[in-house]
Amino acid sequence: AYNERESLFIAVNFAKEFFQQNLKTEEGQSIGLSYFKERGFDPVTIEKFDLGYALDSWDQLLVQAKKSGFEVENLLKAGLVLERENNKGNYYDRFRGRVVFPIHNLSGKPIAFGARILTQDKKQPKYINSPETAIYHKSDVLYGIYQAKKAIRQEENCYLVEGYTDVISMHMAGIENVVASSGTSLTASQIKLIKRFSDQVTVLYDGDDAGIKASLRGIDMLLEGGLNVKAVVFPPGEDPDSFARKSGKSGFQNFLKTEEKDFIHFKIDLFASEAANDPIKKAEAIRQVVLSISKIPDPIVRSVYAKESARLLAMEEDILLTELNRQILKQQ
Ligand code: CTP
Ligand code: MN
Ligand code: MN
Ligand code: MN
Ligand code: MN
Repeated sequence: AYNERESLFIAVNFAKEFFQQNLKTEEGQSIGLSYFKERGFDPVTIEKFDLGYALDSWDQLLVQAKKSGFEVENLLKAGLVLERENNKGNYYDRFRGRVVFPIHNLSGKPIAFGARILTQDKKQPKYINSPETAIYHKSDVLYGIYQAKKAIRQEENCYLVEGYTDVISMHMAGIENVVASSGTSLTASQIKLIKRFSDQVTVLYDGDDAGIKASLRGIDMLLEGGLNVKAVVFPPGEDPDSFARKSGKSGFQNFLKTEEKDFIHFKIDLFASEAANDPIKKAEAIRQVVLSISKIPDPIVRSVYAKESARLLAMEEDILLTELNRQILKQQ
């Protein structure tokens, strides 16, 4: 007999294969595969990420899984089916009529799914994701880590993006050292996972207010985790996926190289752009930069950054250091 975790791995893997097979059916080809093609995903990439399609049906997965000998209890615990609210003992598929992005663990086993709607229907969520299960702890997982880990080591850098499609489009643009936090805010355990492979992260969040806010929070958390942090700002309304598609492979790679900024420059540019002639705004920019520096655990690295930012902000080092120490004390 299998233990619970093993039986969930088997159920999720069954679902992954079922969703992949669905892509070959008439419905899957005309709806799922053509959606991927429209987004520019090529067959090799579709295969690399095990992409699939959930049929537009209430129970196709449930029926096939039962036929193959799976217990409903097991499918329920794997997050694949739901119990009907007003008809207990009856179940239906969680993922229906959507393209499916399997989420793999570090060793490449599928543990969960994200499923995207195909229409612009604003009444339904754009993505439906697996719930927490015995094998899927959302806050411990980074989408794409399995496909990225080797490249992260080689490049000694990890790109951090928001979404599934950002990861996939970057692979197609020839950049494989990329993982997604999948829309949730970054956690300490995700940062530890990155740190197993690299000490440097470049944050590539969406070019909208939510993305910039998430970048600021993510940068401070990454600094706190002892990582070197850079960031790239995308044009308003663009994300790595849309921008890579627009600018092409070498255009995108060049953009990353030229736009990549150390977190200090990222913050200074964000807060100090209009601050040059406004003392109040300049003070706020300084406080923001110092706040990030205060998160750096290593005192030597911290002091190097303090010196550098005093120079960049054209202010006396003593004053900046006083503010830095005040911030550090405040956080203790
Ligand atoms: N997300 C989610 N549920 C939602 C919206 C977003 O889980 N209702 C997660 C997904 O992992 C998504 C990520 O947050 O990939 C980023 O969201 P967003 O930028 O809105 O989506 P994109 O990844 O850009 O997806 P697309 O390009 O298909 O619109
Ligand atoms: Mn765990
Ligand atoms: Mn977004
Ligand atoms: Mn996005
Ligand atoms: Mn997008």
